[in-house]
Amino acid sequence: MRAITVRDRAAGVGGLTLTDLPYPHAAENDVIVRVHAAGFTPGELDWPATWTDRAGRDRTPTVPGHELSGTVAALGYGTTGLSVGQRVFGMADWARDGSLAEFTAVEARNLAPLPADIDHTVAAALPISGLTAWQGLFDHAHLTTGQRVLVHGAAGAVGSIAVQLAREVGAYVIGTGRAGARDAVLGLGAQSFVDLGAADWDSVGEVDVVFDVIGGDVLARSTALVGPGGTAVTIAEPPTVRPKDGRAVFFVVEPDRARLVDLAERVRSGRLTPAVGVVRPLAEAADAFVRRHPAGRTIIQVADE
Ligand SMILES: NC(=O)c1ccc[n+]([C@@H]2O[C@H](COP(=O)([O-])OP(=O)(O)OC[C@H]3O[C@@H](n4cnc5c(N)ncnc54)[C@H](OP(=O)(O)O)[C@@H]3O)[C@@H](O)[C@H]2O)c1
Repeated sequence: MRAITVRDRAAGVGGLTLTDLPYPHAAENDVIVRVHAAGFTPGELDWPATWTDRAGRDRTPTVPGHELSGTVAALGYGTTGLSVGQRVFGMADWARDGSLAEFTAVEARNLAPLPADIDHTVAAALPISGLTAWQGLFDHAHLTTGQRVLVHGAAGAVGSIAVQLAREVGAYVIGTGRAGARDAVLGLGAQSFVDLGAADWDSVGEVDVVFDVIGGDVLARSTALVGPGGTAVTIAEPPTVRPKDGRAVFFVVEPDRARLVDLAERVRSGRLTPAVGVVRPLAEAADAFVRRHPAGRTIIQVADE
């Protein structure tokens, strides 16, 4: 099967090549997915799990990509809940070969059924961004109706979903980004927009929740805005400062089949729109890693349905 692989950490994205690989092995509770569309995170070649397995052993050559949408091609020993031919979408494990391949092995619990009326290219943009936004806002920061939330990078893949979910729960949403993102962020439903290029961007007043995707100085300055009992949640890096009378949380997104089902239902009913950027074929995946595209997840179309 064809796959994008990388062997040499020092070569970085320059080392990404289209390769012929053996068909993946299905372990217990695994599903072999025939991938139709895949997503990747531009920075994932810097993650330790891209290069080593869970025991810390070298696992190169590595297939990148951790979001996928496709059909079940085969089931591992004892796998239940999904059937061959079924449409599915979800997350590939961080420390295993990923989704930039014609077939990939994924634990069944990382996948959810994909309704027939959601396109694979849309579904592939949903798992990491949707679960990250949900878990950050609700599982970690406990955002509720009437609270004020500051969402950084609000035009991006994760931020744009966080804005939509926060609005739906009845929060007051302040979205941030570069000046050019203003219309997109307000169009997603944010009540106000803050240009992070402005010197006084942090004069927005007290908030209950900060949802950060940027880290560094942006995270540090916004942490100071968190009011009593509030939370600064970040997906960028472990925080070095904490709110005076609140919590700071860094987390890595976890797979969650039930939540994927819920997110897909929101997409079907028009309540949630994932930010799909450009769609490119597998042969162009290496180039897609290096070429910056306008807002939205770059999706790699691996096969037609
Ligand atoms: N911990 C986790 O579980 C987890 C999960 C998902 C993602 N992540 C990480 O979270 C980050 C965001 O992911 P994403 O998929 O949402 O990325 P993305 O689609 O590129 O969105 C990031 C957004 O933030 C904006 N931005 C970044 N730095 C900025 C700055 N200094 N000033 C103003 N705007 C800025 C970007 O604008 P421009 O496009 O103009 O730069 C973009 O709109 C990535 O580093 C990713 O690796 C972590």
